[in-house]
This record gives sequence, C-alpha cells and structure tokens, in this order.
Amino acid sequence: MAAKFLSENSTPERLGEKRSEVLDFVERHKRVGRRVVLVTSGGTTVPLESKTVRFIDNFSVGSRGAASTEYFLKEGYAVIFLHRNRSLKPFLRHLSSSNFLDLLQLDAESPTSPVKVRPEHQERLTSILRDYERVRGEGTLLGVEFQSLSEYLHLLQVCATCLQTLGRSAMLYLAAAVADFYIPPDQMPEHKIQSSEGPLNLSLQLVPKMLEPLVKEWVPKAFVVSFKLETNKDILVSKSLQALDKYQHQLVVANLLETRKKEVKLVTKESCVDITMTTSELSNGQEIEQKIVKELSALHSDFCSVDKQT
Ligand code: PMT
Repeated sequence: MAAKFLSENSTPERLGEKRSEVLDFVERHKRVGRRVVLVTSGGTTVPLESKTVRFIDNFSVGSRGAASTEYFLKEGYAVIFLHRNRSLKPFLRHLSSSNFLDLLQLDAESPTSPVKVRPEHQERLTSILRDYERVRGEGTLLGVEFQSLSEYLHLLQVCATCLQTLGRSAMLYLAAAVADFYIPPDQMPEHKIQSSEGPLNLSLQLVPKMLEPLVKEWVPKAFVVSFKLETNKDILVSKSLQALDKYQHQLVVANLLETRKKEVKLVTKESCVDITMTTSELSNGQEIEQKIVKELSALHSDFCSVDKQT
C-alpha cells in the first residue's frame, strides 16, 4: 500500500541531493557517537488540482516540532528537522509574535552600521542568537522542507532509511499532523476547478499509514515515537494502545487538541505516564516539550543500552 502510494505520487524536486545531505549528516554524527533524532513537524497539504491553486490543510503550526527540536539539541542529539515550509522553526519561533522591524532601530551616529537592536530586546535576542550560533557551529541541526502530503511521505522515507545505519541510536519523533485523506493523481483535475461549474463534491481516498513500512522495513531497529491526536478524551489511550499493537513501535505521545500544551500521556505497551504543566510553569514560559524530550531521552538511553549488553 505505502509503496504503491509512493510510486504513484511524484517525487519532490532534488530528492537525490536531499538524500545525500541527510546521509552525510547522519554519517558525520555517527562517527562521533552522537545520537540522531528525526523530528517531523507541521501539517501537510492535500492538493485539489495538479496545477495547484487550492488545497486542503490542517491546524498544525509546528510549535510542538520546533520546540522539541531545541530541547533535543540541548540533550545532545543531532536533529533532522523535517518540517512544513512556513511552519514554526527552532530559535526563530521565539520571534514569531513580534514584528521583526519593531526589534530594530536606525542609529544616525553610526553610518557604517546604522541598524541596531533596540535596547529593550537586547537580552532576549542575545540569548536566542547565542543558542542558535552554538548549534550552527556544531552543525547539529539539518532542516528538510516539505509542503504537500506526497512530498512529506517521500522525504520521510528518505530520512528514515538514511537513519538505518545508526541502529538503536536513532530516534524518530513523528509530531507532524499528516493528512489521512487525499486525491490520487489519476483522479485529480489538471487545471483550476471552475466555480462556474457549480458546487464542488470531493471524493477523497485513504492515505496508507506509513508507520507500518517505517517500523518494519525503513528503520527496524530505531526508537520510534508516534503521536496520537484526538478531540475525544475517552478514546485517546485505547487508540494509542491500538497503534502500538498494530505497528509494534516503542511509544505513543497521546494528546488532545485543546489541552496539548499542558498535558500529554506517554503510552507504551506496559505503562501510561502523564506529563503535565502547572499554571505557574506555564506562566513562567516553561514548555511541555522540555519535559517530554527529557523523558524520551532517558527512555532512549535505556533502549540503546540493550544493544551494549548483547
Ligand atoms: O504543530 P502543533 O500546532 O504544535 O500541534 C502539535 C500536534 C497536535 C500536531 C502533535 O502534537 C500531534 O499530535 N501530531 C500527530 C497528529 C496526527 O497526525 O495524529 P494521527 O492520529 O492522525 O496520526 C497518528 C500517527 O500516524 C502520527 O504519528 C503520524 O505520523 C502517523 N501517520 C499518519 C498518517 C499517515 N498516512 N501515516 C502515518 O504514519
């Protein structure tokens, strides 16, 4: 099913070049014994026309993926950040609610470098820039961009297979909000759908779940963390357990749409651990991703140590 989807849906541009970049990144960090995590982030678009004017989208802005990436970097991981274009990015996300130009001012007394950061933003920008420059210097972050569902799934396969060589020291953290329905290329109109033709009826097909080949074939030894998003709390844990049973991966991060920034559950076949934020932690600007990543990093260490014992 997954192979059929990938062969029928066109591959992203420069796929071979992207594969080489990811492979180089993985090899470089493997040589120094650094663990590598693939973080997926943001929503996928589902085109309605092959020369796409309109598409179906979803709510995800990529804050989970971008924030988690920063915490994985702090835990010592190298991160492949597979993200939707225009979704939130690590480090830059801290400025997403500001108008960038409002952070700056012109200094008439310094004609050779007249652009300055306003004094009230110095401290915050310095701290963001320091973290960003450290990561850039260490070369521990690789961004890979997608927009459509098909681009995402092709790139997911490429990134996941490149991680195979790391065995247990690779982690996959699948936080992207991936479309479940799409229009197959042979059923898609080429040109812009005309409103003069009246109301639009869409028939969407099911997207095969990529977790299946991912766990069985692409990275069978890696530590795989999927996400389960629901709006009904009564089915959250049972759906997560079903996923673990079906795909045989290590862990599901279960969250509800409305409360996803203050509570999640880490569900394994053996346990269900609540991670919550207090009101004071939230008002101090602390983020739930810090706790999630800390916990996962510890579980991943245990998972890796099995390799060393055998
Ligand atoms: O980005 P934010 O705004 O911060 O929001 C974060 C989030 C709510 C998107 C994130 O925390 C989250 O829950 N992401 C997963 C949402 C989702 O797609 O859930 P799902 O129940 O539809 O899918 C479950 C799993 O199946 C996912 O890990 C997904 O990677 C995987 N999947 C989905 C579709 C598909 N065709 N193949 C898959 O393997």
